[in-house]
Amino acid sequence: MKVFSTIASISLITSASAFTPSIPSRTTTALHSTTEAAATPTKNNKASPGDRDILVRCASGQQVERTPVWLMRQAGRYMSAFRQYSDKYPFRERSETPSMAIELSLQCHRAYGMDGIIMFSDILTPLPTLGIEFDVVKGTGPVISTKIRTEEDVQKLKDAESVNFDETLPFIREILGSLSKEAEEANTSLIGFVGAPFTLAAYTIEGKSSKHCLATKKMMMADENGSSKAMTQFMDKIATMIGNYGCHQIECGAQVIQVFESWAHQMTPKHFEEYGKPAAQKAIKIMKDKYPDVPVIYFANGGSSYLELQKDMGADMIAVDWSVDMAQARKILGPEVPISGNIDPTILFGTKEQIEQAVRDCIDKAGGPGKHLLNLGHGVMQGTPEEAVGWLVDECKRYKGKDA
Ligand SMILES: *[C@@H]1O[C@H](CO)[C@@H](O)[C@H](O)[C@H]1NC(C)=O
Ligand SMILES: *[C@@H]1O[C@H](CO)[C@@H](O)[C@H](O)[C@H]1NC(C)=O
Repeated sequence: MKVFSTIASISLITSASAFTPSIPSRTTTALHSTTEAAATPTKNNKASPGDRDILVRCASGQQVERTPVWLMRQAGRYMSAFRQYSDKYPFRERSETPSMAIELSLQCHRAYGMDGIIMFSDILTPLPTLGIEFDVVKGTGPVISTKIRTEEDVQKLKDAESVNFDETLPFIREILGSLSKEAEEANTSLIGFVGAPFTLAAYTIEGKSSKHCLATKKMMMADENGSSKAMTQFMDKIATMIGNYGCHQIECGAQVIQVFESWAHQMTPKHFEEYGKPAAQKAIKIMKDKYPDVPVIYFANGGSSYLELQKDMGADMIAVDWSVDMAQARKILGPEVPISGNIDPTILFGTKEQIEQAVRDCIDKAGGPGKHLLNLGHGVMQGTPEEAVGWLVDECKRYKGKDA
């Protein structure tokens, strides 16, 4: 249970992880949960039979009994239990020490009973396997010291094909292995994740969070005029590593993989078509070729202006950001493409009624209960009231549709 005392952390710029639990508010929030489960103010991870894989089935494209839900950055600083660690331990220590990463992954599930647990980690975590070094600096975010500009810089990196993840990132197997057991006991799914090649390449090239990604864009221009293939070569290398890293996570117990194109907003539709998309497709294909039954979700943060280009990513499901209306996203992607998303995270600062209405609207627009995987359109924000997350999860699980 919640035991840990301290922590220190950093806010992840990169999108991935986040599960967090919040225990204190649960008692209150359980009161509004209706009829059947409401008698005891328990956590809502009293999953009904079948909840163990409802998220996985949904991500595979099946229609399910109700709309499943998890939240990007559900393990995050909005939870006081999480801040006990993040205020004390630096990010890499938290994410690379199994006992801590496991606890941080589980907190939110204990508190809110989302339909999946996601490993507490970061999209940058596998970069050192290629010889790219980073650190997370409080107040700044991740800072990468390895400089990549030229084809030679790319050639100096390690060979992507021969990375041994058990040697280079030994904590991953331990974290996912334990979480896999925890997820089974809690009747829920285990979600793994990776960063998409463009985002990881751009992050490395810029060296830190960047407003305009000018260095990256110059490298794409140089690629276009034929003066340097560094950008293409770099992304290709990352795509291979990331595809294999996704496979490794599956081998360690992940049942679904989400691919985060966190910096999709930095690409024009043309950049996406020429750079981001083929590299992401390559990484996804590596996972799907080896593990065809494990669903892959592709999320392009800020990429909803080129949603139509995402129909054929090779992923099983497309997650959409909050800047497109869910009904519109459905229309653009067409009825065949399984979809996830896309509530604006700021809604969690609203009233209970506003939050519940947003959940119902999103579900209705996606086609009704059981037709999509509910998520936010970006990560849970710092400062989000903990009880609000419970309201969202509860309403999603409870909602039976407009006509019910
Ligand atoms: C998990 O589900 C099984 C059957 O589906 C049930 O027997 C078991 O009690 C559930 N466990 C929890 C922790 O909900
Ligand atoms: C190609 O584009 C890059 C980036 O804009 C520029 O630095 C370089 O001079 C260009 N080379 C040629 C041959 O046009």
